[in-house]
Amino acid sequence: MPHLKIGVFASGTGSNCKAIFESIKKELLDASIGVVISNVSDAPILDWATEQGIPAKHISSDQFNELDKFHEHLLSTLKKRQINFIVLAGYMKKIGRPILTTYTNRVLNIHPALLPSFGGKGMYGRQVHQAVLEYGAKVTGVTVHLVDAEYDHGPVVLQEPVRVHPNDTVDTLAKRVLDMEHQVYWRALDLFSKNQIEIHGQKVVFTNQKEDRDE
Ligand code: GAR
Repeated sequence: MPHLKIGVFASGTGSNCKAIFESIKKELLDASIGVVISNVSDAPILDWATEQGIPAKHISSDQFNELDKFHEHLLSTLKKRQINFIVLAGYMKKIGRPILTTYTNRVLNIHPALLPSFGGKGMYGRQVHQAVLEYGAKVTGVTVHLVDAEYDHGPVVLQEPVRVHPNDTVDTLAKRVLDMEHQVYWRALDLFSKNQIEIHGQKVVFTNQKEDRDE
């Protein structure tokens, strides 16, 4: 895989986008962020991106009469900047087929729970942690996965557990999980950047561990 030129899709504060940017600055991850796209016109991440000198675009399906035109515009924006990888960082919209077809196995998402638990439509941000606490789960975590046409679905790349404490509130749990997200997302990208990953249907294989798997 050539140098990762990432297009970030985000709907809010984009702390995951910032953490990825930091990992690039610290030279932990060999990649660059070529554009930040948000469906929300006043998303704070757009201002942040502009401050960093990263092109920031508000692109929403609401701006177009036809969905095809929306996808065409998204794809041409990505193509113009030679984007070869898409990172969803708190992006609240489903990714359309034209994007998934163009970027097969090159769209990553992060979810603040251990999928397939506590995922799916409506399971976003705080709702996820609320559901975890209501269920009484003792462990939750972070999942980085390739994106397919369903919400919070697709081959799992990395997962890390986070313990639920008896006195956790949504806020305390959300903070601990988000801290873990910031440590995990760039590591998943690093696997792609170093070509250490193969995707076989729903399964992801780390090529640097292939011998262990074959034993
Ligand atoms: C993160 O916790 C991310 O895992 C979650 O939204 C938050 C965005 O935070 N995404 C989902 O719930 C996807 N289903 P951020 O804007 O600070 O990166």
